[in-house]
Amino acid sequence: MPKHPISVVVLAAGKGTRMKSKLHKVLHAIGGKAMLHHLLDSVEELSPQKTVLVVGADREQVEAQARDCSIVTQTEQLGTGHAVMVTKAALEGAKGDVLVLYGDVPFIPKSLMDDMIVAKATSPNTGLVVLGFRPKDAAKYGRLVTAANGSLERIVEFKDATEDERQIDLCNSGMMLIDGEKIFPWLASLSNDNASGEYYLTDLVAAARKDGCNVAVVEAQEEDVLGINSREDLALAEATFQDRKRCEALAGGVTMVDPATVYFSHDTKLGADIAIEPGVYFGPNVTVEDGVTIKAYSHLEGTHIRSGATVGPFARLRPGADIGEGAKIGNFVEVKKAKLEHGVKVSHLSYIGDATIGADANIGAGTITCNYDGFLKFETHIGAGAFIGSNSALVAPVTIGDGALVGAGSVITKDVEGDALAVARGLQRNRAGFAATFRETQAAKKAALTEKQKGR
Ligand code: UD1
Ligand code: CA
Repeated sequence: MPKHPISVVVLAAGKGTRMKSKLHKVLHAIGGKAMLHHLLDSVEELSPQKTVLVVGADREQVEAQARDCSIVTQTEQLGTGHAVMVTKAALEGAKGDVLVLYGDVPFIPKSLMDDMIVAKATSPNTGLVVLGFRPKDAAKYGRLVTAANGSLERIVEFKDATEDERQIDLCNSGMMLIDGEKIFPWLASLSNDNASGEYYLTDLVAAARKDGCNVAVVEAQEEDVLGINSREDLALAEATFQDRKRCEALAGGVTMVDPATVYFSHDTKLGADIAIEPGVYFGPNVTVEDGVTIKAYSHLEGTHIRSGATVGPFARLRPGADIGEGAKIGNFVEVKKAKLEHGVKVSHLSYIGDATIGADANIGAGTITCNYDGFLKFETHIGAGAFIGSNSALVAPVTIGDGALVGAGSVITKDVEGDALAVARGLQRNRAGFAATFRETQAAKKAALTEKQKGR
C-alpha cells in the first residue's frame, strides 16, 4: 500500500455522564487496559505524522494518560465539529489527511483505518470517507443517506431525522477521514442550527458535496466500532474483548475445557500446550511458559510461571511470583514477590512472600513466611533441597540452608545451617498410664456426686 501521510484527531472532551463515574470515560479499563490506550495502540501502528487528543471535561485525568499526543483543550463542548475545529493550530504544518477517531470507540483495528485511507486514495475526487456500519439495533445513531451510486449524500442525526430516514439501517460510527487541505475551510462553514444546537462533524458531508467533492463510505463490522457510553456498554465491550482473547489462546495451543469462564488481561502471554481449567483469572502482566497446567479457580497477576509447572486449584499468585520449571503450587497457596527454583513443591495452604526457595525444596502444608512486623517487610531464604515441616512459621529475616530439615510446627526465628535439623516447638513429654488413671478417678468422683444428690 502506498504511504499517505496522516494525522489523527482523537475526541475525548465529552463528559461521559452515563458512566456515572469520577473516572473519565476513556480511562475505564477493558481487559485491564484503559480504553484510550487500546485506541492509541492501534493509532500508533499507523505511524501518523501527528496525533492530537482533544480533552475537556476532567482533562487532567486524560492528559496524565496520553502518550505521544499533542493535547488541545475544548473548553466548552459545542459538538463534534467544534471539537475538531479547535485542533487547527495543533495540526498546523502536519501534512496529509486527518483521521478523526473517538476516545470511546476503542477497538477500531488498523486494517479498518487502512481501508479508509485506500478508499480515499482510489475513488476519484473523494474529499471525505465516512466509516459506516449496520448495527443490530440502530437506536439513536446518525443515519447515512446514500445516493443510488452508493456515495454519501448526507448524515442525519437521529434527533433531526424524519420517520423515513430513521428506517435507514446504515449508521454513522462517527469516525471519518477528511482531506487535509479542505478540512478547516469546511469546518468553518458549519452552523449549529439543529436539534442539539451543536456543531456537528457529520455536516462536513454536505460541506464537501457543496464544494464538488465525492464522499465515500467504508462499512465496518459492528464489533470493530463499538462505542461505550454506559457501564452496560463497557461490560459488553469487555465480553467482546474476552472472547477474542480466548480464541487467540485456543488458536495458540492452549486447552480450556470451559473457555467462557477464563478471563485474560490485555497483556497475558501464553506459550503452547498449556491447560487452563475453569474459573481461572489473569490479572495484568502474567507470563505462562509451555506445558504449564493451571487448575480451576486460580487468580494470577504479575507472575511468571515457567515450563511444566502446575498451579492450583485455588492458587493465588501475586506480583513478583516466579514459579520455576516443573514446580508445583497446590491448593490455597498464596505466593508474592518470591522466586521458586525448579522442582519446588508448595502443595497445600501456605503463604510464601518476599522469599527465595532453592531447587527441589519441599514446603510442607500450612507453612507461613512471616514477612511483616506491622511496619517493615523482611526476606526468607530457603536453600535447595530443604524440607520444611508442616505448619511451620518462618519469621523473617531468616535463612534456611541447603538440605536442612525443619520439624513440623516450628517457629523458626534463627538461621538454620545447611543439612541441619531445626525443631522449635514445646518439648513433648509422655506420661505412661496417665489417661487411664485420670478416667478412673474422674468417673468415681462423678458417681459419688450423683449418689449424694439422690439421697437428698
Ligand atoms: C456521534 C455522531 C453520530 C454517530 C455517533 C456514533 C455527530 C454529530 N454525531 O453522535 O452521527 O452515530 O457519534 O457514536 O458527530 N466530543 C467532544 N467534544 C464535543 C462533543 C463530543 O470531544 O463537543 C467527543 C465525545 O467525547 C465522544 C465523541 O466526541 O468521544 C462523540 O460524541 P457524542 O456526544 O458521544 O456523539 P453522539 O451524539 O453519540
Ligand atoms: Ca456517543
